Amino acid sequence: MKDEILSLLEKDKVVSGEAFAEKLGVSRAAVWKQMEHLRRLGYKIEAIRNKGYRLLSKPDIPYPMEIVRDLNTQVIGRELYYFKKLPSTNLFARELIDKKINNGGVVVADVQTHGRGRKDRTWFSPLGGLWFSVILYPDIPPRKSMMLTMAASLSVVDGIKTITGLVPRIKWPNDVIIQGKKVCGILTEIDAEIDRINFAIIGIGINVNNTLRTDLGKCATTLRQEFGSEVSRVQLLRLVLKNFDEQYEKLVRGEYDDIRKNWLSSSQIIGKQVRVDDGAARIEGIVKDVDEDGSLILKNDEGIHRVLSGDVEVLL
Ligand code: BTN
Repeated sequence: MKDEILSLLEKDKVVSGEAFAEKLGVSRAAVWKQMEHLRRLGYKIEAIRNKGYRLLSKPDIPYPMEIVRDLNTQVIGRELYYFKKLPSTNLFARELIDKKINNGGVVVADVQTHGRGRKDRTWFSPLGGLWFSVILYPDIPPRKSMMLTMAASLSVVDGIKTITGLVPRIKWPNDVIIQGKKVCGILTEIDAEIDRINFAIIGIGINVNNTLRTDLGKCATTLRQEFGSEVSRVQLLRLVLKNFDEQYEKLVRGEYDDIRKNWLSSSQIIGKQVRVDDGAARIEGIVKDVDEDGSLILKNDEGIHRVLSGDVEVLL
């Protein structure tokens, strides 16, 4: 019912309790109750004597009714689970998969107490950021799974561009950076067999309006910092999900090269001298390309190398 109330409040400036009751087929007391609940959720709703209700402002909280309503996507974001606090949205997503959640389901939390980064690192996830996971059952070959991360990072870059006009870059494999500092990280977790992906959880963390821990300030930034004022998390999440939905459609249609080309044009890495550390070994070279599977193609004195994963440090 809240969805319908919000749609009505948005369309019309002042809506009488009677009109609500009639349109929703409930009593005026039930309407009043819903208004009280919406107020507790952070909506500012004015009650004008003898006239009705007027929506003054909405909270910037990614409630399902703000994200899913009118999103009109094919797969991603048709179902969304919102929490004030979770240990990790990726972990909760895993639980939902056991309960057979649909393709494209999203989990979002305002705060993560045990946010996870790549390589078992922790991911600082305080209030003000956007921490969410997208659950997918992609019908693509497992060797293309890196493309999921590429599609996600492209969606974040485009979302940030549209809202702020800032031009973020992608640092292989999964970082979105602005002025050399990380604004978003992506943790893609996959369960696969030789010939098929059972499921993928794409965890996306964007520093939006949150304050960074002081030790992170050197290498990370927030959108609020770069843009100069607060950025709507609701608007950003909607855009990223819409973009990701389009990219995902391309991915399942096998349009890998389209994604790769778009990704390359947002990448800051081609032609750079880099060092890649995959945990076991380090390799240095000039980045020549990123291939159709998302691997980094490096050239050095010993020849051409194909790198599947690792942390990249740009040397020059
Ligand atoms: C990285 O750059 O190391 C990846 C960071 C990924 C963080 C996101 S926040 C939402 C999702 N839930 C998690 O626990 N991690 C990812």
